[in-house]
Amino acid sequence: MPQVSAPLIINGHILKNRITMAPTVKFGWAGPDGILSDRHVEHYRERAAHHPGLLCVEATAVAAEGRFCEDHIGLYNDSQIAKHREITDSCHLQEVVCLIQLNHTGNVTNPSIGEPVGPSAVMTRSGMSRELSVPEIHALQEAFIGAALRAQKAGYDGVQLHGCHSYLINQFVCKSTNLRTDEYGGSDANRARFASEIIRGIREVCGPDFLISVRTVGADPDLLSCISVAEEYVRAGCDYLQVSSGIEEPEDAVLKKDEPFNKICALGVRFHDVFRGRVPVSCVNGIVTPDQVRYLLENDLVDTVDLGRAVLADPRFPEAVLYGSEYVRCFSCPRCHYGPFMESRCPAEIKRER
Ligand SMILES: Cc1cc2nc3c(=O)[nH]c(=O)nc-3n(C[C@H](O)[C@H](O)[C@H](O)COP(=O)(O)O)c2cc1C
Repeated sequence: MPQVSAPLIINGHILKNRITMAPTVKFGWAGPDGILSDRHVEHYRERAAHHPGLLCVEATAVAAEGRFCEDHIGLYNDSQIAKHREITDSCHLQEVVCLIQLNHTGNVTNPSIGEPVGPSAVMTRSGMSRELSVPEIHALQEAFIGAALRAQKAGYDGVQLHGCHSYLINQFVCKSTNLRTDEYGGSDANRARFASEIIRGIREVCGPDFLISVRTVGADPDLLSCISVAEEYVRAGCDYLQVSSGIEEPEDAVLKKDEPFNKICALGVRFHDVFRGRVPVSCVNGIVTPDQVRYLLENDLVDTVDLGRAVLADPRFPEAVLYGSEYVRCFSCPRCHYGPFMESRCPAEIKRER
C-alpha cells in the first residue's frame, strides 16, 4: 500500500513522495520575448520549498507561432534557456524532480499570434484551421524535440508533453479534430504517431536518463482508445503517464458508483488499473484536501497525485498532506483567479497573508 511519503523512482529519478505539482500557466507574467520573469522564478522557488516530490513548470511554447498569447513563455530559442536554470537549481536544492511542460496550441492558436493549424481543417474557437502537410508535421515535431534539448540544457530532469486540454497533440488524438487518412490519422496507433515520434526523437537527442512524461487524454472520445494511444506512447519510450481531460467530455460511466472523486480524476485511476507495475500513472482534478490525496494513494488507486489549484492557493499544501500541518484550502472558485483576464487575486492567497 503506497503511503504519501513513499519514494517513487521514475527512470532513475527519485520522487521523495507521491505529491506532484501540476503545470499551471501564468498570464501576464512574461514579456513578448517568452523569457521567464523573476516572478515565475520566485513562484516556483516557493512551491519547491514546501516539498512536492515533483514539480512541473507550466505549458511552455515550442514555437513562437504556437503560443497562447504575447506574454506566453517559450523554449523556442537559446536566449530563453538561462533563466530556467534559476528554477531547476531551486528545485534540485530541495531534491524536487523538475519537469517542464512543452506545448503548441495548434488549431486553437489565437490568429493574432499565429495561423491556427492542426491535423485537419476543422472549425474551432479560433475559426477554421488549416490542415498541416507532412513536412510541416515533421517541422513541428522537431520544434518539440529542440525545446526538450533546451530544457535539458536548462537543468530539467525531463519534460512533460502537453497531450490534453485541446492543444496540438490532443488534436491529433481526438477523432473529431483529426480526419486524416494518411499515417497520422485513422487508427489509434496513427493518431498517436505525432507524439510517439516526438518521444522517440527526444529520447535520441536527450539520452536514456531524461524523464519523458505525457500528460495524456483519458477519454477523447473514449477510455479504451485513449489507453491504446497511451500504449503507443509507452512503446515509444514514455516513462510516466499523467492523465487529464481532452476536447470531448469523458462519459459519466468512467466514474464507478460511490467513488469519492470526479470523472476526470477517475480517468487516472482507470489508467493505473491498466499500467500498474509497468509505468507510473497520476490523476488530477478537483483534489483540494489532504484526505483526498491520502485516499487515492493509500488505496493504491494511482502512483502519484497531481495538484493544480490546491498548490496555487497555498504552496504549503504538500506539507499539509505529509505532516498534517496548517494550510489554506482552495476556494474552488468557478474561474481560478490565476487564470486569464482575472483582475482580482486568489482569495486563499489573501487569507494566507492575513
Ligand atoms: C490558472 C490555471 C492554469 C493552468 N495551466 C495549465 C497548463 O499550463 N498546462 C496544463 O496542462 N494544465 C493547466 N491547467 C490545468 C491544471 O493543471 C489542472 O489540470 C486543473 O486545474 C485541475 O486540477 P486541480 O483541480 O488540482 O486544479 C491550469 C489550470 C489553472 C487553474
